[in-house]
Amino acid sequence: MTARPTYEQLKKDFDWPRAAAELGLEPGAPLNIGWFCSDRICDLGKQDKDALRWEDFRGESRTYTFDDVRVLSNTFATFLQDQGVTAGDRVCMFLDRVPELYIGFLGVLKMGAIVQPLFSAFGDDSLWTRLDDASTRAIVTQKKHLGKVRRARENLPGLEFVFVVDEANLREGEIRLDLAGLPRVEEYTCHPTTAETPSVLHYTSGTTGQPKGAQHVHNSLVSQYITAKWVLDLKEDDVYWCNADPGWVTGTSYGIIGPWSNGVTQAILDAGFNAEKWYAFIERQGITVWYSAPTAIRLLMKEGLDLVRRFDLSCLRHLASVGEPLNAEAVLWGREAFGLDFHDTYWQTETGCMVITNFPGMEVRPGSMGKPFPGITAAVLDTRTFEPLTQPGQVGLIAIREGWPSQIRGYWNNLEGYRKKIVNGWYICGDRASIDRDGYYWFCGRDDDVINTGGHLVGPFEIESALLEHPAVAESAAVAKPDPVNMEVVKAFVTLKAGFEPSKDLELEIMNVIRKKLSGLAMPQEIEFIAALPKTRSGKIVRRILRAQEFGEPIGDVSSLMND
Ligand code: WT7
Repeated sequence: MTARPTYEQLKKDFDWPRAAAELGLEPGAPLNIGWFCSDRICDLGKQDKDALRWEDFRGESRTYTFDDVRVLSNTFATFLQDQGVTAGDRVCMFLDRVPELYIGFLGVLKMGAIVQPLFSAFGDDSLWTRLDDASTRAIVTQKKHLGKVRRARENLPGLEFVFVVDEANLREGEIRLDLAGLPRVEEYTCHPTTAETPSVLHYTSGTTGQPKGAQHVHNSLVSQYITAKWVLDLKEDDVYWCNADPGWVTGTSYGIIGPWSNGVTQAILDAGFNAEKWYAFIERQGITVWYSAPTAIRLLMKEGLDLVRRFDLSCLRHLASVGEPLNAEAVLWGREAFGLDFHDTYWQTETGCMVITNFPGMEVRPGSMGKPFPGITAAVLDTRTFEPLTQPGQVGLIAIREGWPSQIRGYWNNLEGYRKKIVNGWYICGDRASIDRDGYYWFCGRDDDVINTGGHLVGPFEIESALLEHPAVAESAAVAKPDPVNMEVVKAFVTLKAGFEPSKDLELEIMNVIRKKLSGLAMPQEIEFIAALPKTRSGKIVRRILRAQEFGEPIGDVSSLMND
């Protein structure tokens, strides 16, 4: 691997074809992410190098070399094909962070199908909505999630295949996929995918409607490879840890594709948050590069420095963060705890790769997201004219000039919804920021009603739809409420139908319904029963007012409201 050039050098010289050339890619040539993350690494002579060092919460562990990943993803691809899954089908991965998830992800891509990773903590409704929208043909799951899959399948006639990776009492129409037990497929010819062939379908929330499927293509590799290499500063001997779940884009772009296309060893911990276990994991695995998130860092801060001092974490060399605003305090704490800066990075499901970054070697300004990645043209636009703002400190809309390799090609079934986000050649991210006189970006907030809880976006519409299914709920509005650890949590305002009275029991009951239907993330932490919701004259609920109230902000212009 060549040494990383400085930000200033790259800013001058870099263009995307240069990154493609590093991968030996030629325009129009076959391009398959599965192949680039395993076969190519073996061809470079790293077949015996560890690709995946996996541990779970029970202390079980398994290690896979790049050759294991190559052969087992071949095996996975062959198995799906033999069963009748074909190129272009949507194959959902509904798994905890087990090795089959990471290896199977590459297998699905190798056979030319579209991989749809879903967070395994999703409840019945969240799962069903996304499988229905994508007309998913196959799902790969494990025993503990089979109940949810069976219930979803009752109303999904197109979901033909259910594959189960561990032992379970299977019913008719369910098939065991025992990756370790299948005959190993040493040689496999990938489907002839090219740069524009659909690869990953990630569901993400917006303000209106149900979550949308962000459609990535195989060409995303170019961006993910080079940003992982330069921004995460990945080097030959690194042991890298990304603690995001592949149900979310960080867990695929930088939890599978980025590190493996660079031939870097990654360690995975299939366990929830626990400060002591996390530090022990870093020490035991000798993690050198760690990609984390502000909520995790704030949780570690709460546990204090004494705990950090009990471990030898001198292996750590580079730290980065993504998902929500990384407050200056967290950066300063990181310096004390690890002697290193957390490098904030900003991006989205739709961008596929980091777009605003604290590049290694560049001065970190605590609280800032850094500067546009070389090759990315970014700006902050005037909210009315959509022209770039020119004065330092002016707040506007974060926008990225169209055309970087990992930009999504649309929302599944909803190209119109995506095209609306593009104005005058700028992709509008939906966030507000300002740029200081030295070109550093400072995040201000989202420009819509989407709630960012612990780095996970949840859409108000999905929550409100689920709330309405409760017999007591007449109308509802889900908004963000500030939270010291998760930055935001969900709060629901609810009006009740005649005959129902507000009570603590009812509040708990409704909360639980949402947790079960959607997920713990989407569950309101508080429900406020009110007599009427603020609406516009045309009857649209105005969440902005409720949100402003929660954040103690000025309410703004309410002149068009009905019941003010
Ligand atoms: C939204 C995208 C991309 C990985 C994880 C989330 C917020 C993301 C930052 C940051 C402030 C951030 C934005 C963005 N966000 N990174 N460094 N500082 N906010 O992907 O689920 O598509 O969410 O997360 O609001 O639009 P996502």
